[in-house]
Amino acid sequence: MDMQKTVAVVTGGGSGLGEGTSRALIARGARVAILDLGRSRGAEIAQELGDTAVFVEADVTDEDHTAAAIDTAVATFGVINALVNCAGIATAGRTLGKGAPLDLGPFKRTIEVNLIGTFNAIRLAAAQMVKNEPSPDGERGVIINTASVAAFDGQIGQAAYSASKGGVVGMTLPIARDLSRTGIRCCTNAPRICETPMLMGLPDPPRQSLAASLHSPQR
Ligand SMILES: NC(=O)c1ccc[n+]([C@@H]2O[C@H](COP(=O)([O-])OP(=O)(O)OC[C@H]3O[C@@H](n4cnc5c(N)ncnc54)[C@H](O)[C@@H]3O)[C@@H](O)[C@H]2O)c1
Repeated sequence: MDMQKTVAVVTGGGSGLGEGTSRALIARGARVAILDLGRSRGAEIAQELGDTAVFVEADVTDEDHTAAAIDTAVATFGVINALVNCAGIATAGRTLGKGAPLDLGPFKRTIEVNLIGTFNAIRLAAAQMVKNEPSPDGERGVIINTASVAAFDGQIGQAAYSASKGGVVGMTLPIARDLSRTGIRCCTNAPRICETPMLMGLPDPPRQSLAASLHSPQR
């Protein structure tokens, strides 16, 4: 894609990988709509980045808010042709913790944000991208999701998180196939450990076992 013509919605752009992605895109000439929760640093970051960024507040699990945020991105920049899904949460808890079954509440919430929230942003962004004039090679847009190594190699206490990320991996190919005729690509990356606020917020045991599971280099 021509980065000078790229307008990206970055979910979770108010922290960690999403913030880094937003800054990297802008440094290469793109414009970015930072989509994040109101309590995030998204507005502050967008203000710092100036005319090339706008903050669009939304919870990715909320259909109407996410649709309105994407509409605002289109109204601000005239188009969107990239979506980077970074919004996510990490929860930790063993299936049986001290003999008691894991609460379903955090399990459901993890699936809702990481999996359903990702799909919500994908379907709404794709509905905008399909209106774009195709590039000379037929491309109308690109969607990049963030799964995790936990999709393939989940550690103790990661049943919910791994299930949510496995879902993101599993839906990537059918979505790419669904959208292939429209010229919208869809792919997913699966990072290992990045020292973001999310990782640093995990309790010690899962964080240490994640680090210990790395081979070389251990970072
Ligand atoms: N940090 C790591 O080691 C690591 C490794 C693999 C994958 N990931 C994945 O990368 C993505 C980014 O993680 P991070 O480490 O940068 O975390 P982070 O906590 O620094 O950032 C996540 C952002 O998502 C936002 N968010 C959370 N719930 C939301 C919702 N419902 N609607 C909109 N925004 C919401 C948060 O406000 C925050 O700004 C996540 O999907 C995470 O699972 C992270």
